[in-house]
Amino acid sequence: MGKSFLIFCFCAAGVAVLGGCGSKIDPSQIVPTGGGTEQVTYAGTAKEIFDLNCIFCHSTHKTGNYRNGAPPDVNLDTYEGIAAAISRANPRIQAGTMPPTGGIPLEDRALIQQWVDAGLPR
Ligand code: HEC
Repeated sequence: MGKSFLIFCFCAAGVAVLGGCGSKIDPSQIVPTGGGTEQVTYAGTAKEIFDLNCIFCHSTHKTGNYRNGAPPDVNLDTYEGIAAAISRANPRIQAGTMPPTGGIPLEDRALIQQWVDAGLPR
């Protein structure tokens, strides 16, 4: 009885030490309140804009004709892919020439510009 209790304690402590409940706080996700300027993050805003408007053609999951002519080295379905292509992507977004069907709403262009200016926070 005493032995199994000890084992239980050890396991529980192990889980707590490893932060096994996903409770780690990512400082970049903390949004300042009351200041009026909320930071645009990848997880909170940018990912959705790229998912909705770009990955139909620019995705690591698409090859050949399924890319509709999108260059093979421009994939926008991951943070890393976007970060690698942002110096080419943002001018096209701001100019309204991507997606080729007519750009994204001005409000979303402004959000992406803010995200770029902030240094692509996650
Ligand atoms: C319908 C398919 C399609 C969608 C959706 C699309 N693109 Fe493209 N993209 C293309 C094609 C085709 C090209 C190559 C021709 C060109 O550069 O105009 C391209 C080229 C690019 C390039 C390369 C430009 C360079 O420097 O050569 C970037 C960056 C890019 N797209 C970003 C985006 C972004 C950002 C979005 C979403 C806001 C987007 N694209 C949505 C088809 C698409």
